[in-house]
Amino acid sequence: MSATFPVKRPRRLRSRSFLRDLVAQTTLSANDFLLPLFVRGENCNLPTDSFLGIPRYSVDECKKVLENATRKGIKAAMLFPVIEPEKKDETGSYALRPDGFLPSVLRELKKEKFPIALCVDIALDPYTLSGHDGVLATKDDIVYVHNDLTLEALGQMSLVHAQSGADVLCPSDMMDGRIAHIRKILDAHNFIDVSLLSYAVKYASSLYGPFRHMVGATLSHDLKDKKTYQMDYRNEKEALQEVMLDDAEGADMLIIKPGLPYLDILTKAVTKTTLPIFAYQVSGEYAMIKCAAQYGYVNERDAFLETAFSFKRAGASAIITYAALDIIDWLNN
Ligand code: PBG
Repeated sequence: MSATFPVKRPRRLRSRSFLRDLVAQTTLSANDFLLPLFVRGENCNLPTDSFLGIPRYSVDECKKVLENATRKGIKAAMLFPVIEPEKKDETGSYALRPDGFLPSVLRELKKEKFPIALCVDIALDPYTLSGHDGVLATKDDIVYVHNDLTLEALGQMSLVHAQSGADVLCPSDMMDGRIAHIRKILDAHNFIDVSLLSYAVKYASSLYGPFRHMVGATLSHDLKDKKTYQMDYRNEKEALQEVMLDDAEGADMLIIKPGLPYLDILTKAVTKTTLPIFAYQVSGEYAMIKCAAQYGYVNERDAFLETAFSFKRAGASAIITYAALDIIDWLNN
């Protein structure tokens, strides 16, 4: 071998950990995570079983988690209510009640003045008997989710949660025009500082199963999937269209969901908008790593860190993950 070959030796910078750290392109801190939390009522008679170590918290437990999250430096938590079956109806009307469960949770949590943004999912699925994100209607004997009737409900739901103290509202329903509609209602009531974190790109994914189990929103209707409103995973262009629409309609931040199977979409989406875009590592993705780790096939810590860095590297401003608190601990140790 000649003395000058090879000229380029990329392994040189990989050879010692301090050099690897010095040239690392991607960083993560507590500022990069949003923590999803399932909240249940004190007398919730659903089984309080957990999902791979993630419980349904009572409000008091929720406070403890938020205290802990504050210590760790988390900046945002997303609250998902567990609604008792007897409170559900055809149209999800309980979601619109100022005296409903989540508005009362918000008022309770607000008293604690955590330095954490309280984010609320805006969609009807925990509240409808069908488990769908909107109001059902029938046309020519075909049942479908009615876009504009659903918008009316989402607008009211948004207002009620803004009035109860939500910092950020997260429409996750994939109805057309909802960002413009919700923004208009918020502004008309002077909630100009309540932000909209839009689930702009949400695919009809098989990876939401554990979440639906946790909030008790398993699809129980003849309409067995959400493909008429959530997106087709064969498509990229409509994802970029959704991103540009939600930007134009007044969203402040966007979500791409699920996470890992859609890194290509994330990378392209960040070129179409200047808004911050978050990746959601959804419940099924969390479960894949957790279960593989339980079988000893992957190391949980390594797998969560690797996926978190992947989201950031692909262009995410922040990451929504059930493993947020653990990841922050692992980053610090
Ligand atoms: C509600 C909503 C869902 C998720 C977040 N908000 C379920 C769905 O759309 O069916 C899924 C989150 C996860 O799986 O972790 N619309």
